[in-house]
Amino acid sequence: MRPPFPVGRRHELTFTAAEREARLLGPAGPVSRIWTYTDEPFGVTRLRLGDTLQARLVNRLPEHTSMHWHGIRVPNSQDGVQYLTQPPVEPGESFTYEFTPPDTGTFFFHPHCNETGQVGRGLAGILIVEGEEQEPSHADIVLANKDWRLADDGSWLPFDTPEGASRAGTFGTVRAVNGMQAFSADVPAHGDIRLRILNLDASRMIEVGVEGAEAYVIATDGNPVEPFPLHTWRLGAAMRLDVLVRAPAAGRTFQVLDYFSAEPWPLATLKTVEASLRPRPFSPKPLYASLVPRADLKNAERMSFAFSAATGAANFVQAVAQDDPLSKVLLDSLCVQDSTFWAINKVSWPNADHRRMPPPLAMLQAGKSYVFELMNATPHPHPIHLHGHMFEVLSASRSDVPRFMADTVLLHPKERIEIAFVAERGDWMFHCHILEHLEFGMMGYVRVV
Ligand code: C2O
Ligand code: CU
Repeated sequence: MRPPFPVGRRHELTFTAAEREARLLGPAGPVSRIWTYTDEPFGVTRLRLGDTLQARLVNRLPEHTSMHWHGIRVPNSQDGVQYLTQPPVEPGESFTYEFTPPDTGTFFFHPHCNETGQVGRGLAGILIVEGEEQEPSHADIVLANKDWRLADDGSWLPFDTPEGASRAGTFGTVRAVNGMQAFSADVPAHGDIRLRILNLDASRMIEVGVEGAEAYVIATDGNPVEPFPLHTWRLGAAMRLDVLVRAPAAGRTFQVLDYFSAEPWPLATLKTVEASLRPRPFSPKPLYASLVPRADLKNAERMSFAFSAATGAANFVQAVAQDDPLSKVLLDSLCVQDSTFWAINKVSWPNADHRRMPPPLAMLQAGKSYVFELMNATPHPHPIHLHGHMFEVLSASRSDVPRFMADTVLLHPKERIEIAFVAERGDWMFHCHILEHLEFGMMGYVRVV
């Protein structure tokens, strides 16, 4: 049984979104101008379950920004989506978020307009909520996968391209983990090593496996699962996987690999060093279960969403009703693109010709259970994300996966997936997490009243 929900500490932190310098092509390489919330790209903030985070965002960037807490079930007012849940935080301004995360796990945060440009320059951070381990691990390592799109002189290449935006996304030129080109670390021999693997890339899909050590999946998108051996697991953009590895004897190495690239690519190389641990059988204990409400599948209402290319008709975007507070909103150029390639149920996120906030894709009732049927009518995979909720993946027509909880699910070409959840009040974004796909139309929101 999990312990009762604890009363924790309060953390008052300041995140200054600003341009900083980094040598992303190696210590002898040129300087790149990165955008980050803290001194390091993908800085890690750790809380314990029950803790409250007060996060003050100070914007020193030349354009507006926000902080969206991806996967964390925050109140809608703290969800960090410019125009939908808060005004944009303009240059020189600040905005303070406050919430007590209700779940443990591996999460991250990022802005919600011009994500290709802002996240592309490094603007994302990692948020870990601890407190669900029945047995503490001996090491806890964050591996944030994200390419850089750099020219040889360290300057940025265009973050979006028509070819990429209309197909599988524009890819980086330099692969990296935690901002670095090669990640390695020492770990205690015979120790239990917790790996928190995040795919923060704009476009790339990775397929995670471990070679040279035994590995179990212990959480998906931060949600505890009954541990099962890791063969390989696909992570689309924004998806996370927590893995527990039993380190081999001292002096050995093992690797975390991405098998999706043409040649298996090492996400991390871990070397064991002598520690006072003995060889012993490895059968990981499950993490304490989360408090995410489970959908009542018998009485759930079903809704269908088709993810497709934009049709001509999709460009005819209606606006939200006149009496809606959002009807006064005009999306600025950071939050729309010039053109539209993608749609959800034949409706595209507005482009430069239609800057009014669109109506919700669906109206839901708070506290009620829903089954969403997601259908991919394109030849590309789409990692589909719903804000503010954790959903259960009930079935997937093209993947053989057990039922699991997630906030983002990979919808393969021509695939049909069913997800179930209990609706929480608010306006919640619902979109593909390939950054060019969401910016070029594959984005909308659902309204829960
Ligand atoms: Cu990572 Cu709209 O989200
Ligand atoms: Cu997509």
